[in-house]
Amino acid sequence: MSQSDIEKFIAGIPKAELHLHIEGTFEPELMFEIAARNSIKLKYNSVDELRAAYNFNNLQEFLDIYYSGANVLIKEKDFYDLTWAYLQKIHAQHVLHTEIFFDPQTHTSRGISFDTVITGIRRALEDGREKLGISYRLILSFLRHLSEADAFKTLEEALPYQSWITAIGLDSSEKGHPPTKFERVFTKARELGFLTVAHAGEEGPPEYVWEALNLLNVSRIDHGNRSLEDQNLVEELAKRQMPLTVCPLSNLKLKVVKDIRQHPLAEMLRKNLMVTVNSDDPAYFGGYINENYLAVAKALNLTAEQILLLAKNSFKASFLSEADKIDLIEKTDNYYRKYLENNSLN
Ligand code: ADE
Ligand code: ZN
Repeated sequence: MSQSDIEKFIAGIPKAELHLHIEGTFEPELMFEIAARNSIKLKYNSVDELRAAYNFNNLQEFLDIYYSGANVLIKEKDFYDLTWAYLQKIHAQHVLHTEIFFDPQTHTSRGISFDTVITGIRRALEDGREKLGISYRLILSFLRHLSEADAFKTLEEALPYQSWITAIGLDSSEKGHPPTKFERVFTKARELGFLTVAHAGEEGPPEYVWEALNLLNVSRIDHGNRSLEDQNLVEELAKRQMPLTVCPLSNLKLKVVKDIRQHPLAEMLRKNLMVTVNSDDPAYFGGYINENYLAVAKALNLTAEQILLLAKNSFKASFLSEADKIDLIEKTDNYYRKYLENNSLN
């Protein structure tokens, strides 16, 4: 395929996004707009100055800027506008289903109520479903640099909204905050009926991925890059067909990989792992989902069949019903069939 053919193929293929932090979609323009209407002065004088600060040597350097950006979100409408802006972006990128993380502790620790946060996000997601045809699931993520007690408190706050929340996740600073720290609160969450996922093996060692599997009973591993260092773990992940939500441009920006041509996605595919491509924090990492697909397609010379597989995996690994999965996978297959027909005519 030529470069422009790959671009078109990726742009149009139906896909799901499974690893996306809503606070990570906060574009500088919207941040300045919301800061102004809330009478908050940002540390930066302009959009360009803020964007210029987006140079990170590791996860923590990014997290410091990401949490300070989220400080301007105060009102329900702020959370609505943030989420709505993201939905419009992905609608243009042929995302038909999205499963988004939100970090309530980032906001409740500043005195913003849990209700304000979730109501704003959910209202936009409902509008996205009705007006844009994008289905969704919501994942509440605990900040792992905070205590177990704080996670338990957050789980309690979530209970009145349980029907709006499909899964519990684990994000923020990975090193030094192993999944074991949250074993009891994840057990409680599962007893209550939540599914679970966890960031593991982004910067942390393969042991954290084992812990996420065996102690947190996750349905997906977010990132999982460092799993490749442990052959037994790779075999286990392949055997279980455990989904990995991989985020190529995030890995590049946070120096999890040195060069996109060395991204482990190719090896993961070779080892028959159930991988998906996602954007993580697109406003900070220079691309939404299509830019992530395109970056790996180009750098790793992916074939159209491999791109198709990644798109189908995104539906398979989602929390949609089996009937919806079948329907969306069929849509993706039909898209590929049409692409082949058009190409054989040329
Ligand atoms: N929160 C937002 N993005 C994250 C990432 N890539 N890793 C851990 N926590 C995060
Ligand atoms: Zn993430």
